[in-house]
Amino acid sequence: MSERNAQGTPRLDQRPEWHALAKHREELSGTHLRDLFDRDPDRGSRYTLQVGDLHLDYSKQLVTDETLDLLRELATATKVFELRDAMFGGERINVTENRAVLHTALRAPQSATISVDGQNVVPGVHAVLYKMTVFADRIRSGEWTGHTGKRIRNIVNIGIGGSDLGPAMAYEVLRSYADRDLTLRFVSNVDGADLHESVRDLDAAETLFIIASKTFTTIETITNATSARQWLLGELGAGDEAVAKHFVALSTNAEKVAEFGIDTTNMFEFWDWVGGRYSFDSAIGLSLMIAIGAESFRSMLAGFHLVDEHFRTAPPERNVPLLLGLLGVWYGGFHDAQAHAVLPYSHYLSRFTAYLQQLDMESNGKSVDRDGNPVSWQTGPVVWGTPGTNGQHAYYQLLHQGTKLVPADFIGFARPLAELGPLAGQHDLLMANFFAQTQALAFGKTPDEVRAEGVPEELVPHKTFRGNHPTTTILANELTPSVLGQLIALYEHKVFVQGAVWNIDSFDQWGVELGKVLAKRVEPALTEGADVPGLDPSTKALVAKYRELRGR
Ligand code: F6P
Repeated sequence: MSERNAQGTPRLDQRPEWHALAKHREELSGTHLRDLFDRDPDRGSRYTLQVGDLHLDYSKQLVTDETLDLLRELATATKVFELRDAMFGGERINVTENRAVLHTALRAPQSATISVDGQNVVPGVHAVLYKMTVFADRIRSGEWTGHTGKRIRNIVNIGIGGSDLGPAMAYEVLRSYADRDLTLRFVSNVDGADLHESVRDLDAAETLFIIASKTFTTIETITNATSARQWLLGELGAGDEAVAKHFVALSTNAEKVAEFGIDTTNMFEFWDWVGGRYSFDSAIGLSLMIAIGAESFRSMLAGFHLVDEHFRTAPPERNVPLLLGLLGVWYGGFHDAQAHAVLPYSHYLSRFTAYLQQLDMESNGKSVDRDGNPVSWQTGPVVWGTPGTNGQHAYYQLLHQGTKLVPADFIGFARPLAELGPLAGQHDLLMANFFAQTQALAFGKTPDEVRAEGVPEELVPHKTFRGNHPTTTILANELTPSVLGQLIALYEHKVFVQGAVWNIDSFDQWGVELGKVLAKRVEPALTEGADVPGLDPSTKALVAKYRELRGR
């Protein structure tokens, strides 16, 4: 394999900065987090950063000042900052799709100028935001009524991946900001059970379907949307004239929207420079805006923008997304870590990690570099996690005493939501767990400490905690729309940094294509018993078994 890329620059693992990190890793092996704190008791206050409302403590990371310097040198050498500026500047950094990457324009203020091919995209962004605001207000006020004149009380978003996970996650996060008289449902799975369970208790006359699809060709979404239309018209006993009052579309593809039968005046547009997994703060957020209102939605956008500006302008030593990205490079590249856990200590963030899975794994789950050469370094980790206290009674055993290194982010809040009333009293217990876990993971419990508790010798190894498990703690005052925006932008830019260092295209997703094509090919084999050319013997036998079980 060539040691250089097409541009003549060295491949990542041939760079002197990479070798320096490898050597440094050798030198650090055997150093425990306990040693790092012994050597530098101020670490707990020194290794902290602030961005907006987010206080970030990275003192329990397996790093020293030297590690951080070396990682930043790697970032400089791999031109992370140049690529960042190119992204913000509207250049076509999504090389395999030849597209600009401008989700940051979705939250830019009206006064900003961001050009793609010489055209300022900001006025278009704000025009759509305005259209969304007017529509959301009409639904929330009851002015927009359904075909029979009834007020809309149910919103069903039909979309998948980036057209589902963002609003579905954010609706959970911001429930206490939502109009509680509205019912929101999110349908994504092509399994008919998803739509069935979502509409079975709804009055069609009070239901609005939002069909969310960037391409408007995604088979799952179009199938569910078609079924939803049949359900609605059947329930109402109406013809196609009822569709206009009950269906709107969020898409970049006006032609396909019209073909489906949705009036394009009821379409909320976005653009090909918004990747699906980066689209939640575009028109794709319409269901959320209806739930929480335009003001809260805009406050969330302001939170995104705050972190965008921080990422764009903060010096490397204080740049939080840069730090988070580089920590991932450190563990993947030099500790062979395969996974990354995101553990929110907030019930409201229960779907946050699922959202991050698409953001991170669809972006950085790549094994060729931007020039198409296979990479010989680790790229995106397996991202996983659920709310922390539940995890403690499920998989934390592996984090504490298993054989794998799983760096983790702990996310928590100082204040419970006022709405919890007397239940807010449980918050200190929740947060006691939050703080206790990162301490236990970092410092563990030595055999001597276990013995001092009078534990019989044969049980000492079982009750010993090795510790030395790296975590980042992200603490904010309260979970607000702005804080949600800040958190998402933080992770978006962390993913960006890693993709830049690894020299991969974080903005394409060719890896999902093969399955899609094969599914289309396999379907006639299931339904008609068609002899599908190219089916491998295992799949052929499984298809035959399926048909037998279905009595076909
Ligand atoms: O299959 C993957 C994907 O293309 C995602 O990237 C995207 O978020 C999702 O499908 C949905 O796509 P669309 O919004 O075009 O329906």
